[in-house]
Amino acid sequence: MEEGKIVKLEIEGYDMNGLGVAKHDGIIVFVSKALKGETVLAEITNVHKKYSFAKTTKILIPSSVRIDPVCPYIEGCGGCDLLHMKYDIECQVKEDKVKNAFRKILEKQKVKLNPIIRNEQTLGYRNKVMMPFGYDEDENVIYGFYEKLSHNLISIDQCKISNPYVNEVVEFIRKYVSVMHIKIYDEIKHTGIFRGVMVRNNYKNEMMVVLIVTKYVDFSKLLEYISTDFPLVRSMYLNINPNQTNVMLSDEYIHIYQDKTITENILGLKFNVSAGSFMQVNHDNCEKLYLEAFRMAKLTKDMNVIDAYCGMGSITLNIAKQVNHVYGIEIVEAAIENANYNKELNNIPNATFICGPCEEEIQKLTHLEKIDCIFFDPPRKGCDQKFLDTVIAMKIPRIIYISCNISTAARDITYLLDHQYTLQEATPCDLFSRTSHTEVISLLELKK
Ligand SMILES: C[S@@+](CC[C@H](N)C(=O)[O-])C[C@H]1O[C@@H](n2cnc3c(N)ncnc32)[C@H](O)[C@@H]1O
Repeated sequence: MEEGKIVKLEIEGYDMNGLGVAKHDGIIVFVSKALKGETVLAEITNVHKKYSFAKTTKILIPSSVRIDPVCPYIEGCGGCDLLHMKYDIECQVKEDKVKNAFRKILEKQKVKLNPIIRNEQTLGYRNKVMMPFGYDEDENVIYGFYEKLSHNLISIDQCKISNPYVNEVVEFIRKYVSVMHIKIYDEIKHTGIFRGVMVRNNYKNEMMVVLIVTKYVDFSKLLEYISTDFPLVRSMYLNINPNQTNVMLSDEYIHIYQDKTITENILGLKFNVSAGSFMQVNHDNCEKLYLEAFRMAKLTKDMNVIDAYCGMGSITLNIAKQVNHVYGIEIVEAAIENANYNKELNNIPNATFICGPCEEEIQKLTHLEKIDCIFFDPPRKGCDQKFLDTVIAMKIPRIIYISCNISTAARDITYLLDHQYTLQEATPCDLFSRTSHTEVISLLELKK
């Protein structure tokens, strides 16, 4: 088997990320955009010793669960890898993904996975987009997404999973940058100024726009147009990133337009969100995720709770309404400023926010007489072992582990199971429809 060869494949199932799985000459082939039961022609793109990757070039016998992808960029863009299958199948793929990653844990604990929390709105749900800018072969200004596993920019004029209003604003900015001849940043030559755009929107479709540049640019003319043509844009920033890196955002923000924050509403509380804070990208399923986590936590008015990796406090303050006291810990200073502001905004007295790494700051809570439950919602790399060791030493009776990376969640849960905890239940939640990413919420309890 060599790269570039076209082979005929019968798809037998799916892998963890929804790729079709077939066998050719005894070798496993992972095939993009191919569905179980289909016969396809596929081009081999990557050859390893025991397996290969291929991309579908022609569907010979289609599956009845195949749907027309609504996006014209599906071939190039690396974003929505499950857009070609019915949503029911996507949900099954995601449940299987969690079952596989948690297989040893579920077998050991004799626990069944709960059904996935489905997404009612599988398109237009994303409330944050990051669009790098570039040039096409004819030197036209383009924006879009990177091709999977590469830094080739695929030019798009809309993203189906993003909010449609956001698409309009980004297109307007593209035209402005082009007409004003603002040089687009070239990350290889390290020349040019304009790197791209980040846009966030809230539940009312109000937007915050961040223009990412290598140095200060006067955008006052653009702001005049925005104020007349896009009343839903409520806040704008420059992000100054002069570094030769493919990481788009730096820590330096300059506020240039109207409000400093936009306000999100989560389960009836208001949250002021600044440019640098973390906010879940799918508002409606974020609420369902939190409700599932609260159900597992069995919160009562006499409980004291820790919310580790708390961001701007959206879980913390919703917990506060239900318990005696809650402590939120978060490393990003701006997020903690938001959290404290949000605490006042919602008139919540029984929450304390602590800024710093969880693995250090939790040490300061070990003296507290009684912590009944701890929530973890770490970044993709999961929890620091020092942090887990402190939780274990504190003998906190209940842990709610929310994770966007099921591999690191499985690793951390396995560690907790080796240290006196048991897994009681776990629920996948579809926060990232049409992509293969999956969220999972798990309940662990200390052995009696
Ligand atoms: C997945 S987000 C969860 C935020 C929040 N729970 C929510 O639902 O919006 C993870 C958060 O952990 C924070 N973080 C990353 N590493 C950390 C650490 N070592 N200690 C504390 N917070 C950390 C990030 O800044 C981010 O806000």
